[in-house]
Amino acid sequence: MGSQIVIAIDGYSSCGKSTLAKALAKELNFIYVDSGAMYRAVALYFLRNQIDPNNHTQVISALNNIHLNFHSRDYESHITLNDEEVSAEIRLMPVSETVSAVAAIKEVRREMVKQQQRMGRSKNIVMDGRDIGTAVFPNAPIKIFMTADPKIRAERRLKELLPKNPEITLEEIFENLAHRDYQDTTRLESPLVRAQDAIILDNTDLTQQEQLLFALSIVEPYLKNK
Ligand code: DC
Repeated sequence: MGSQIVIAIDGYSSCGKSTLAKALAKELNFIYVDSGAMYRAVALYFLRNQIDPNNHTQVISALNNIHLNFHSRDYESHITLNDEEVSAEIRLMPVSETVSAVAAIKEVRREMVKQQQRMGRSKNIVMDGRDIGTAVFPNAPIKIFMTADPKIRAERRLKELLPKNPEITLEEIFENLAHRDYQDTTRLESPLVRAQDAIILDNTDLTQQEQLLFALSIVEPYLKNK
């Protein structure tokens, strides 16, 4: 124990963090952990049970009733909320619109961070999120901070969401991303900020393969010298 390797990937919404994280995990035979899915599953529980994020008592009791688990299949991570597979539902707009507010709650973050740190103690992992290199694993040896042009990000998200939600518009997505960026960077609890030792990856003009090669060019020398 203690010698597990954590690769931390942080950045704005819809920057391709999970695509890169999955590809990297596959290449290195690490476990991929999507920390955003955890906040999304909590937000889904809050929506279904009409939990008021400002009601401390309701939040605490909800957290006691939420049990999350990851199941990894073919490097796709599937998340269960109290044993129900919710991987698809957490990607839909109702959750996307409320998740930032839920992720800003101190008690929610404390619980998620505890669970995330536990995962990093037992396995080599690639974890993506907003505070992985700053709050969850400040000592991670490899940290990547991803960014991309907001218009490109919205277009990529549109492509991803259209098959499941043909009504969705580019404007709607653009606004949702801007709103989430604002909430994620200005919240009091672990706001999204680049760790000082994180390497910036702006993927506006990069293919997925180019991003993977860039990440490997950082990771491989580290693994060789370990
Ligand atoms: O990566 P994503 O879009 O699925 O994240 C969903 C929300 O959760 C987003 O608003 C930011 C928040 N989040 C967070 O605050 N900390 C993390 N480590 C991961 C996600």
